[in-house]
Amino acid sequence: MPKITKFVRDQYTTLPVPQPPADMASATYIVTGANSGLGLECAKHLVRMGARRVIMAVRSRSKGETALSAIRSATGRPHAGEVWELDLASPDSVEAFARRVDALDRLDGLIANAGVAMSTFELVGGMETTVMVNVISTMLLAFRTLPKLSEWARRGGKLTNLVIVSSNTALEPELEQKVASLRGDVFDALSVKEGFAPFDQYPMTKLLEIFAVRQLASIIPVSTSGVVVNTVNPGLCYSDLDRNLGTMARLGMAVTRRVLARTSEQGSRTLLHAAFAGPESYGAYCSECQVKESDIPAWITSAVGKSMQKRVWTDLLKRLESIGHGVDIEALAAK
Ligand SMILES: NC(=O)c1ccc[n+]([C@@H]2O[C@H](COP(=O)([O-])OP(=O)(O)OC[C@H]3O[C@@H](n4cnc5c(N)ncnc54)[C@H](OP(=O)(O)O)[C@@H]3O)[C@@H](O)[C@H]2O)c1
Repeated sequence: MPKITKFVRDQYTTLPVPQPPADMASATYIVTGANSGLGLECAKHLVRMGARRVIMAVRSRSKGETALSAIRSATGRPHAGEVWELDLASPDSVEAFARRVDALDRLDGLIANAGVAMSTFELVGGMETTVMVNVISTMLLAFRTLPKLSEWARRGGKLTNLVIVSSNTALEPELEQKVASLRGDVFDALSVKEGFAPFDQYPMTKLLEIFAVRQLASIIPVSTSGVVVNTVNPGLCYSDLDRNLGTMARLGMAVTRRVLARTSEQGSRTLLHAAFAGPESYGAYCSECQVKESDIPAWITSAVGKSMQKRVWTDLLKRLESIGHGVDIEALAAK
């Protein structure tokens, strides 16, 4: 089927609101980037579904409080939800957030939804901002919350969920060549101003997320951790994701969205699906509220793709180590 036909068909797929787990009334979920777009709608669904604790992880407390007020009045739950600060441009902020997570009595799911798309080159902590926010800090957060998710899986006698919100833009065929052409360390190569191409950078970071999750899943089986790790594509949705893009790009997005986009609420259903999914979604790519490994292009699962996946993984762990936020994967796997 031609790519565009498939995209249109996917966008027009009717998405169900997923059924929450039976123990929802005692469950705790964290949603990052919960003050706007998909994250806000996902947090709202979780509150409406009766989750005991919904932690909205946001970089601006005031924006978070405004979103929480909106959720409380929309759901009629005046005491539900809480706002915790988290700035993914700062690994130190991730560590501080993770220490709070560690003190939770239980954690049923982390929905790592926050992300950016940039049209200008900006460095943060020595890395291009999209790379830092979407990949380095998002994966650091995943590594740091895994022990709590795993602990509750064991104590609660259930599977818990770790969802990384990716994108179908990661699966564009051109990315195969582009990722293969990165010389040296992947994160250094993507943090050079001269080579910065806004339309490649965002999908590239979403591809790196997919590689990282697939490698993590291959190292720490769900049978050991009790944590279902997956990636999800929400599809093209109305949101503020294009806020940092140039005028022409925003105009193009506005036209495309008018014809094809889902609302953020509809898109958020895909996040809920991934957050409630079972072991069949382990390490997998979800889209349209289904496990859709068939969408993953053959090159990603080929020997070339697997070797790229390992390279991304090695560079990710090396980078976290070099910036003082190392991760002991063997210790994580043993937990
Ligand atoms: N919308 C789509 O069509 C689409 C398609 C595929 C995938 N996605 C993915 O869906 C996720 C949600 O995006 P969205 O469409 O809902 O866009 P959005 O409305 O722009 O939401 C992005 C969220 O990420 C937060 N964020 C950005 N930088 C951050 C940082 N440094 N630290 C902490 N939080 C930060 C934003 O906070 P502020 O408000 O403070 O900036 C905002 O809450 C992203 O991962 C995106 O890549 C979206």
